[in-house]
Amino acid sequence: MKTLLTAAALMLGAAIALDAPSALTADPRPTAAPASDLVARGKYLVTIMGCNDCHTPWTVMTPDGPEPDYTRTLSGHPEALQMPPAPAPNPSWVWSGAATNTAFAGPWGVSFAANLTPDRETGLGDWTEKMFVDTIRNGRHHGRGRPILPPMPWKMYRNASDADLGAIFAYLRSLPPIVNRVPQPLEPTSPPPTPAQR
Ligand code: HEC
Repeated sequence: MKTLLTAAALMLGAAIALDAPSALTADPRPTAAPASDLVARGKYLVTIMGCNDCHTPWTVMTPDGPEPDYTRTLSGHPEALQMPPAPAPNPSWVWSGAATNTAFAGPWGVSFAANLTPDRETGLGDWTEKMFVDTIRNGRHHGRGRPILPPMPWKMYRNASDADLGAIFAYLRSLPPIVNRVPQPLEPTSPPPTPAQR
């Protein structure tokens, strides 16, 4: 038994010795995933987390109904689309959504899905990764500004890891920038309805 162990130790020693030059020169710190892996991971997360449902306008009509227009991926509520006043909420139907699924009226007023492309003037072009992560974690614009309104599901997304949020941000940065100035949200015009009687 002892001989066997000694032989194993000797072999291990030989293997380490063979590896030694590279082991000594290689940087032992973990390296970040190559940018393209990060972007691919971010795209995967954005897809399964449904960001296109609200941030890409549903203007392509198919036999099954409207679908997102991926020539405008994640560019938010189209600035040219002026919405008429929202239907008054009532106790049974508390909120309503635009046909594009980019504008939402409810007790919070009217919110418009943001332009997440890297355009500097109208999108997230001047955002840092920290601003993005803080926005998702705190539910505030730039991580510290006005509260982010419903139905943006930041209270769910805030549970994502820093690595996943970083990958999402890397993917958003890789999108073609689209110039689209999304309107500011509108204040509520009527008091919130009371919940429906069951
Ligand atoms: C159910 C609809 C919905 C989904 C799904 C959704 N969002 Fe949003 N998002 C919105 C709306 C509406 C706003 C604008 C809220 C406001 O103006 O306060 C918004 C705002 C944001 C903002 C803030 C922009 C700013 O200028 O402060 C970011 C960042 C964002 N969304 C990222 C995402 C990402 C990333 C995903 C997917 C992981 C996602 N959203 C999924 C509806 C949605």
